Amino acid sequence: MTDIEIKKGLAGVTVDYTAISKVNPDTNSLLYRGYPVHELAATEPFEAVAYLLWHGELPDAEQLAALRATERAHRALVPAVQQAIDLLPPGAHPMDEIRTAASVIGAVDLADIGNVMDAVGTPDENLDRSIRLFAALPAIVAYGQRRRRGEALVPPRDDLDYAANFLWMTFGREADEVVVDAFNRSMILYAEHSFNASTFTARVVTSTLSDLYSAVVAAIGALKGPLHGGANEAVLHIFDEIGTADNVAAWLDQALAAKRKIMGFGHRVYKRGDSRVPTMKAALDTLVEHYDRPDVLALYTTLESEFVARKGIYPNLDYPSGPAYNLMGFDTLTFTPLFVAARVTGWTAHIMEQQASNALIRPLSAYNGPDERHIEGYVPDAAVQ
Ligand code: SDX
Repeated sequence: MTDIEIKKGLAGVTVDYTAISKVNPDTNSLLYRGYPVHELAATEPFEAVAYLLWHGELPDAEQLAALRATERAHRALVPAVQQAIDLLPPGAHPMDEIRTAASVIGAVDLADIGNVMDAVGTPDENLDRSIRLFAALPAIVAYGQRRRRGEALVPPRDDLDYAANFLWMTFGREADEVVVDAFNRSMILYAEHSFNASTFTARVVTSTLSDLYSAVVAAIGALKGPLHGGANEAVLHIFDEIGTADNVAAWLDQALAAKRKIMGFGHRVYKRGDSRVPTMKAALDTLVEHYDRPDVLALYTTLESEFVARKGIYPNLDYPSGPAYNLMGFDTLTFTPLFVAARVTGWTAHIMEQQASNALIRPLSAYNGPDERHIEGYVPDAAVQ
């Protein structure tokens, strides 16, 4: 076997440039188009960060107003999407609902494009598609949770900005400012993270000149996995298993003995803590105070300190966001769909960046199967030799 070095999981492999975000494990920092993410989370509405990811600059007042107008125009749940979701069995996983909805939006939008070569679209068409998905997903996520609860659809309100309207459509009541702010911060933190598995999936699909919707649907499939986006949902399952802070030590003894992955901890790139955690933890602290839930904080801090002490593995963004979404009132099954609603901005920014400077993504493999062998009795046909 020649000395081929396999980089399983592409760990540590740099495959391309991106100008969209910089993840720096050495300084434990994350920049969106040069801006530290914690500064954006403290000062900007999510709509402005979406604009930044797509265009490379923060919007001025006029540009933000135009994006907000377009986002409002595409907020309502499209009947074809609602019908498609309603055709799914009540037990369908929310990520399958979201994947179905994105597929339908794409199919409806591309229906009049006969030639597959034209589906790839122009930069302007793909920016429109990106804004359409960004605007449509809150109603889809909100509808999914209300459908599972047997509650009626809540139409959007044009007098509310993105975060407040998302909460309005989900809960049918106006959220307190502290909740809107925490939710807005979470969407900004979840929006983008360079070549994570779902974003790289979107770039692979885009590299074949397939369309933006197909790339987003593929990314949704990648994000569903518990090693990636499904972890925030899994964190709540762990909290439910443990119950209270005084059960943590015994629970960890069993979990580690069973070689379980503790969801919400660890990261392929960050090895001394996830740069986004302090900002999301601060948002969680405001929610703990707002809802008077010191028990949640006690469990959170006890599990973190115990696990870090035992394994030296630090929390990732999913660890504070799980309990934060729980306190906001979202069902656990809704957590990963919330991740989709945020990350669709990063995915579409990367899709457009890949389109602007494309090369088909096709890595090599090293063969370690059986040596060449032949079918008994096969008579070679001169034409195929
Ligand atoms: C996200 O890439 C991104 O940027 C992703 C993301 C984004 O914004 O897009 O940041 C979002 O996906 C965050 C990660 C969410 N996933 C989880 O919380 C699931 C639990 N985490 C682990 O599965 C793990 O930490 C990964 C998958 C996230 C990263 O794993 P790596 O880098 O592949 O490292 P590894 O699995 O090889 O672990 C190295 C060692 C192993 O021990 P040994 O087998 O060598 O003895 O550390 C152990 C692992 O068992 N380990 C854990 C652990 N994470 C690593 N052990 C228990 N619990 C954990 N969470």
